[in-house]
Amino acid sequence: MCGIVGYTGAQNAAPVLLEGLKKLEYRGYDSAGIAVMDQDRIEVSKVRGRIAALCEKTRDGASVPGCTGIGHTRWATHGAPTEENAHPHLSNDGRIAVVHNGIIENYIALREELLREGYHFLSETDTEVIVHLLEYYYRGNVRDALIKTANRLQGSYALGVICADEPGKVYAVREASPLILGIGLGEHFFASDVTALVSHTRSVIYLEDGEFAELSADSVRVFDCSGREIAKKTTRILWDVQAAEKGGYEHFMLKEIMEQPGAVKATIAPRIRDGKVLFAELEGLVPHLPSIRKIVITACGSAYYAGCAGKYALERLCRVPVGVELASELRYSDPLIDSGTLVIAISQSGETADTIAALRECRERGAATLAVVNVVGSSVASLADYTVYTWAGPEIAVATTKGYTTQVTVLYLLALFFAEHLYPDTFGLGRMAETVQTLPRRIQEAIDMNASIPALAAKYHRSPALFFIGRNTDYAAALEGALKMKEISYLHAEAYAAGELKHGTIALIGEHQPVIALCCNPAVMEKSLSNIVEVKSRGAEVLALTFRNNQKILSVADDLLFIPEVEALFSAAVEIVPLQLLAYHVARENGCDIDKPKNLAKSVTVE
Ligand code: BG6
Repeated sequence: MCGIVGYTGAQNAAPVLLEGLKKLEYRGYDSAGIAVMDQDRIEVSKVRGRIAALCEKTRDGASVPGCTGIGHTRWATHGAPTEENAHPHLSNDGRIAVVHNGIIENYIALREELLREGYHFLSETDTEVIVHLLEYYYRGNVRDALIKTANRLQGSYALGVICADEPGKVYAVREASPLILGIGLGEHFFASDVTALVSHTRSVIYLEDGEFAELSADSVRVFDCSGREIAKKTTRILWDVQAAEKGGYEHFMLKEIMEQPGAVKATIAPRIRDGKVLFAELEGLVPHLPSIRKIVITACGSAYYAGCAGKYALERLCRVPVGVELASELRYSDPLIDSGTLVIAISQSGETADTIAALRECRERGAATLAVVNVVGSSVASLADYTVYTWAGPEIAVATTKGYTTQVTVLYLLALFFAEHLYPDTFGLGRMAETVQTLPRRIQEAIDMNASIPALAAKYHRSPALFFIGRNTDYAAALEGALKMKEISYLHAEAYAAGELKHGTIALIGEHQPVIALCCNPAVMEKSLSNIVEVKSRGAEVLALTFRNNQKILSVADDLLFIPEVEALFSAAVEIVPLQLLAYHVARENGCDIDKPKNLAKSVTVE
């Protein structure tokens, strides 16, 4: 996720763009840039690092004169966070500049086509194909060139464009990435969200997918993808800036929970084609797969629990033992790791000290290493032989949500990818790939099915302790569910393998003891049912998480959370959603600092 802004009017554009980018920095902050038109030339200034570095480089915009411009703050997905990869990107003739938020899924094919046409590329980004396509189609009318270019793009994009042949004009295009127009007096704006606009105007136009806008100081025109002009209504923004950064949600954590369908879709979409999983970044690993005798996953916190959830699919499909090791333990355990081991290091930030150290230890022992990270160019990504990004976008809340679900999703994809290469005749791989492709929709359904959670939180928020129990894949989800509850509501919560209850923990179950029972795996459903009966007979109150039509569980549980039916091998990414929401609402009931829980850090870069 990145942030884009645009301006045209009577003011100098650069200071307006820089102020707007500062308001969008939470959307991405590893590099930034602006392009401003002065008479009939475009000047670009870009930096690796935050907006402050760009302000310093341009003397708060003073060194880049002109009243029309576009700007970008980046969250790297394709290409490390460098100045060359920062936006805006220029056409080869320097006459067109583009900023982009989104992912162009077919950029590799387009890049090859443009290279054959003689265009040269300065960056590793997917975005750069856009500006060269524009140059290729430009015949004196930017709007026409934009429509032709957009028709070639697959994926998501919010674009900002300026062209030196059209002074005073800014263009914007929206497809599956947010883009809003700001309507001022003698000036007009565009931005990725209202935070960058409200200090100038509260009159906005929300572009819809497939719409193109042409802005000048005194006019705003919107067209559809056939070039036909359309009328758009203006909306009055009532949010304050602070609320707008959270998309109108009370906390970043809730916003990021709600972003999960989109984040998981962004993680999956470019990687499944016709029922096959594609990882161009892992082609070098494929020849070594047959020599892998075991897989070791290592991580910390929720990333570790993501590994616990992904283990089932990896073992089932790859038919090799999969161990999941806490990074802080692995590095001191003299691990049995050698060249026959594939080590998968999972880290949202890519900067967790224990995970870095564990990864180093495994490399020294000869293992092949694969990083699953969210931050492009981070330490874990740089250390590993191979890297797969989760593309969740910046995650601001300390307690991870979309980081976890996208990590689990990547592990599902890896399991299918490895199986396709190791056992191509395995029955059902295509069907399982299709199941994984439905996860974004299932996650949205899980969000929509649980309107009762605030009431459940009000009932359970004073419980001195909560037990999360489950078997097999349900147990893996229970582990992360309990951690979420602890992290943000400060209630003691313990995840327990349901089959283990009778070996000790059940001694703690007394009158009204809340037990959250995950019952989403048909293979162990009867056993899960008996575990519920077992704890209820000792006085527990059971909040069961299951499917709507699971009558046996519905008949014994005291309260219910629901998810849509999804194959157990891939259900953890969906089961966790009601548990994230339950933890969120319990913490809210308890008046906790949800986005910045006490004693916790987003990334622990020290031991
Ligand atoms: C903790 C975070 O500090 O580190 C957790 O609070 C996270 O949310 C854990 O799961 C691991 O962090 P990372 O960045 O390596 O996934």
